[in-house]
Amino acid sequence: MYLLGIDFGSRYIKAALCVKDIETGEITVLKLYKFQHKAAKQGTITDVVKAKEAFTELIDKMRTEFQDKIDNYIISISGENVNSYSGTSTIPLWKQENEDRRVKITHAHVSEVIKAAKMTAYNRDDKVELHSIPQEFQIDDQPATQNPVDMYGVKLRSSVYVIQTDKANMENLGSIPEEMSFGNYRIVYSPLATAEAVLDPDDKEAGAIVISIGDQTTELVVYLNGIVRMAKVIPFGSANITKDLKIMLKTDYATANIIKKEQATAFPKDADPEKMIEVPNSSAQKNEYTEEHIARVTEARLKEIYDFVTKEIYKGSYQRQVHTPVIITGPGSRLKGAEKLFSEINNSRTVKGKIVGVKSKIDVISDDYFTAVGLVKYAVNYDIFSDESADGGRRSVAQKLKKFFADLL
Ligand SMILES: Nc1ncnc2c1ncn2[C@@H]1O[C@H](COP(=O)(O)OP(=O)(O)OP(=O)(O)O)[C@@H](O)[C@H]1O
Ligand SMILES: [Mg+2]
Repeated sequence: MYLLGIDFGSRYIKAALCVKDIETGEITVLKLYKFQHKAAKQGTITDVVKAKEAFTELIDKMRTEFQDKIDNYIISISGENVNSYSGTSTIPLWKQENEDRRVKITHAHVSEVIKAAKMTAYNRDDKVELHSIPQEFQIDDQPATQNPVDMYGVKLRSSVYVIQTDKANMENLGSIPEEMSFGNYRIVYSPLATAEAVLDPDDKEAGAIVISIGDQTTELVVYLNGIVRMAKVIPFGSANITKDLKIMLKTDYATANIIKKEQATAFPKDADPEKMIEVPNSSAQKNEYTEEHIARVTEARLKEIYDFVTKEIYKGSYQRQVHTPVIITGPGSRLKGAEKLFSEINNSRTVKGKIVGVKSKIDVISDDYFTAVGLVKYAVNYDIFSDESADGGRRSVAQKLKKFFADLL
């Protein structure tokens, strides 16, 4: 079975063609694709026509090399138009006529409390739900559990984390696969895919923070006790560092970008205050700056981005988690000193993300493609295509519950 993960980023469209072994569920990455486009800003599509052109370019290229039919497509969604909310609700379990008010909890109770909790999450009519992730359940005053089925109680409380976007945003993105007749496709929030690429089930259980630095966005995901607690996109990324270097070093964007990749560090203590770096500019003049000066400019912007990330972590009250491993990934994290800076600011253990849990026909899967591969991994691990059933897309209650418990794992 063939799956194509399509990461529609702010500057690049990147795709991972994968095959899933039907028996073992094992994913093998076969081929990776990357094209530049001008159809989005800070993760949100701003030009649907250009976006369609980018998708067409990708699909045409893929079809020249790969003749088989793709069974499932998974497309990322990102940007500030995606929001998340928590909802909480409590339902009574007992009925009046019951002598003993304690009731054994069933799947139906679980569905009911989740539905009620979702109703309390912010949900305007012009929004559509992308993901709803059940958090913990609590039965009366008993300790929280992730599976309340077959336990006894009087009332059941649940909270749910809902990720949603504007209908218009969804329609814009959805029109692309519809027009291109992708058939079976799903849309997944980009940070969830990136985190999926670098975390294994043990990491999720132990708790982890994933920070992924892209061009115009930075993604944040918090996992705790095996469950996604928070997924956000911050509208700043590595392009902001390039822009600062361009201004401060009085040069053009392309030169600033090369300096960022080759010379800069976000950790000024590692920079040489004596070493001079030549920076060409348009007036054919060359300016010289110390390595330390370039490092200070770079550090200032990355620190600001990290501050936004940290603020979100604190807002969600997950500050204790910064002492579990913080995984820094994304192409922007290739900047020298990127991990060290976060670790110094937050006194945390920071590690560079590695792709886990997939096989590959490609020697090394670079972090450029983590989101694209993560989309496929997410689709397989959370069984997101299973809601399609033979009866025209409606799910039976049994399937829904199967999916629901898969989401909990
Ligand atoms: N070696 C490097 N050092 C520093 N930055 C790098 C390096 N390599 C790539 N980058 C930066 O990574 C960014 C590209 O990130 P990415 O491919 O995630 O972009 P995108 O997916 O199009 O955008 P976004 O993820 O923000 O939606 C660019 O700003 C690029 O300059
Ligand atoms: Mg990206």
